[in-house]
Amino acid sequence: MKAIKGFLFDLDGVIVDTAKFHFKAWHRLASELDIPFTEEQNEELKGVSRVESLQKILDWGGKSLSADEFDRMMGLKNEWYLEFVREMNSDEALPGAVEFLEEAQKQGLAIGLGSASKNAVLILDLLGIKHYFKTIIDGNLITKSKPDPQVFDMGAKALGLDPESTVVFEDSLAGIEAALRGGFRRVGIGSADILRDAEIVVPNLAQMSPAELINQLNQI
Ligand code: BG6
Ligand code: MG
Repeated sequence: MKAIKGFLFDLDGVIVDTAKFHFKAWHRLASELDIPFTEEQNEELKGVSRVESLQKILDWGGKSLSADEFDRMMGLKNEWYLEFVREMNSDEALPGAVEFLEEAQKQGLAIGLGSASKNAVLILDLLGIKHYFKTIIDGNLITKSKPDPQVFDMGAKALGLDPESTVVFEDSLAGIEAALRGGFRRVGIGSADILRDAEIVVPNLAQMSPAELINQLNQI
């Protein structure tokens, strides 16, 4: 087994508590479109791009929109989402996340971001944590969405690492699947019942230090 040399983090739901804002904004949009939308369905939207998320909601509701209306709805969702984001402060970082990044950096691990979000840089800036990331691969750079491994492949390449030497941290089903398909080590953030293909699942990054985590992964 190869030595672990770097970490690739998803953003929403791993480092920052924005998954709840995505849910609220999609829920509001679904209501406007008269489409029921549950927390369970929301799990399927985590890690999925804005355009694919809207398409899924429309499919669930058996509805379709003209191209112009589709764009307008995506714009509205993002506007509502950003209203929440702009009110956010550094408390919105998830428990242990910033300390974990700090410690990983001190240990000399390579750190990158692999997010489907087009708002990733804005959020990292708002939280004042952009400087931890040696590479940021976001929704503006990728052409294939999770569960395709492209976002993590690009991240590992930019860090100069092999997938087997790189740990992906993900809260979404699509993201863990992307990491699995790409041959990455996998840490799920959330519930083990949902993130079944993760090698280790923790509720948040406060549970263990980077060194403890690497130690555990080395024993698998
Ligand atoms: C992912 C979120 O990180 O980014 C998804 O889990 C979201 O819920 C996707 O749809 C795209 O985000 P944005 O900010 O570009 O709409
Ligand atoms: Mg996520």
